[in-house]
Amino acid sequence: MIDQFGRNVTYLRISVTELCNLRCRYCMPEEGVCKKNHADMLTEDEMILAVEAAAALGITKLRVTGGEPLVKKNILSICRRAAAVPGIREVCLTTNGILLPQLAKPLKEAGVRRLNLSIDTLNPEKYAYITRCGSLDDFWKGFHAALDAGFEKIKLNAVLIGGFNDDEIVPLAELTRQYPVDMRFIEMMPMCDSAEFGADTYIPYTRVLDVLPDARPAPKDGGVAKLYRLPGAKGNIGLISPVSAHFCGECNRIRLTADGRVKPCLHSSAEYPLKGLDFEGMKAQLERAIGGKPQWHGSLDAAHHSGAGRNMNQIGG
Ligand code: 5AD
Ligand code: SF4
Repeated sequence: MIDQFGRNVTYLRISVTELCNLRCRYCMPEEGVCKKNHADMLTEDEMILAVEAAAALGITKLRVTGGEPLVKKNILSICRRAAAVPGIREVCLTTNGILLPQLAKPLKEAGVRRLNLSIDTLNPEKYAYITRCGSLDDFWKGFHAALDAGFEKIKLNAVLIGGFNDDEIVPLAELTRQYPVDMRFIEMMPMCDSAEFGADTYIPYTRVLDVLPDARPAPKDGGVAKLYRLPGAKGNIGLISPVSAHFCGECNRIRLTADGRVKPCLHSSAEYPLKGLDFEGMKAQLERAIGGKPQWHGSLDAAHHSGAGRNMNQIGG
């Protein structure tokens, strides 16, 4: 469906849970999330109905997110059923990778074609710090399981945090020489909890290019990242700049939260509930949401926090 600013909305990001087995400092409060009433969350059948309604409106690409989608018990069934919905051409998933040793192969078999894995640092102590409880070793095990499972594409995501990982841009980027993966650097968005990192920790994406003088522009792949490549590399460097150069003009996505709210914009508090609706009801709500998609999200910087009204784990990134 084309929105009122001429954008063809074809991409739905669906968060299947707010829960996570890590506690990244820019994403979640330390105590985790107060578990919402089970009855307020979408059931698996409702998620699939929402995907069917979205597909009827022209959605062709799905990304499954969280929280951490792999902590959801019925994740394989959700992926398998979503991938089988007529009109859905591609199901992708974003994960911290920790549970991939058990789940990489079954996810591939369930029809997930691409994976994004979060990795903000290559230093075990720093990884334990930023995730508040994670083990870098577990990440690597998950990463190799993903490589072995034969996904079409694997992308690694690092959130740029000044004073934390700005000294690791080069080694992170070098992973694209060693492995057939893209390495993407994402400007930290001022969501509720990332406020813990003040204005002095914000790093613009241009810093990445400053420290990678050999990187050359590469053709775009249809996503929002600006792409570069190191000589001899097997994958691209991606730069994602939600803060310094927003991409609202080419935004083709909407989001569905685990508690059943359609969010036409990540940074707007506007939400359209789907819980309890039938196919036609969901389709009508999705149509309203796409119709109400704002032109852009307004300034995002130290002085202008996101208007999302939720932490990232409650939206899905
Ligand atoms: N700014 C930018 N990206 C974020 N993510 C989570 N919180 C933020 C934030 N405040 C992204 C990270 C992570 C994914 C799950 O969501 O890329 O890998
Ligand atoms: Fe979990 Fe991802 Fe949030 Fe980290 S960024 S706490 S891995 S959902």
